[in-house]
Amino acid sequence: RNVAVLLAGGVGSRVGLDIPKQLIKVAGKTLLEHTLLALHDHADVDEVVVMMTPGHTDAVRDITRGGGYPKVTAILEGGETRNDTTQRAIDHLIASGDAAQTRILLHDAVRPLVTPRIIGECFTALERYPAVDVAIPSADTIIEVAADDTIRSIPPRASLRRGQTPQAFRLDVLARAYEIAAGDPDFTATDDCSVVLKYLPDEPIIVVHGDDRNMKVTEPIDVFIADKLFQLTGIDLPRAKDDAGYRAALEGKTMVVFGG
Ligand code: CTP
Repeated sequence: RNVAVLLAGGVGSRVGLDIPKQLIKVAGKTLLEHTLLALHDHADVDEVVVMMTPGHTDAVRDITRGGGYPKVTAILEGGETRNDTTQRAIDHLIASGDAAQTRILLHDAVRPLVTPRIIGECFTALERYPAVDVAIPSADTIIEVAADDTIRSIPPRASLRRGQTPQAFRLDVLARAYEIAAGDPDFTATDDCSVVLKYLPDEPIIVVHGDDRNMKVTEPIDVFIADKLFQLTGIDLPRAKDDAGYRAALEGKTMVVFGG
């Protein structure tokens, strides 16, 4: 079985509203609904588990009530950190099925513009690899700094990628990595691939190409950017370069209006 886990257990302190940021409405729906739809309606996804901020699971039940989301098999509360939330999802999936036969795809609820191609390629990659990450090249130069803000190193950009989600795993591999991590008092991570990389270094993690539009809503400005990006959904950006309106906009003559 292929299970998609929607990680929606955070509070969104950097966006700073009095509701979790995944409940912000953009382009007519909450970010959570957009992301849930993308996972739920993918042909390769058999089941969806939603991990929600403690105290807010009713908001998810309101969305799924009415039978429109038959693949949602559980709505659970997340943990203190993102990794605690993943751990709870792992525990639930191990208790509810055969780990060796389960593939788990974890996706941030606040990346509503994930594409069907990315989800499909993650599951395809799991046929050959135990773990999959999604990343895009970095346009910016990435600088490693010391605690005093002086530069420690500037790794060559060609070998760097910006990590996105989803990340996907054979469930037994991810569960084993988390089990070892649980015994490490110094455990810290912000994603799931780094747990496998650190505690099961012999397991290869393949990288699937992400998408510029698969952005994460993190800061207040990202809500605005996501709203604009929804207007581009369905537009092939490389091909848009041939669009007369796009060219005119680049030349500063007009605003870009796609599909109008
Ligand atoms: N997440 C989660 N459980 C947590 C923390 C985060 O499931 N305990 C999820 C968030 O809901 C989000 C994703 O992980 O979909 C990425 O995390 P991030 O952007 O850091 O979300 P928040 O923790 O909500 O944001 P902030 O750090 O600004 O509070």
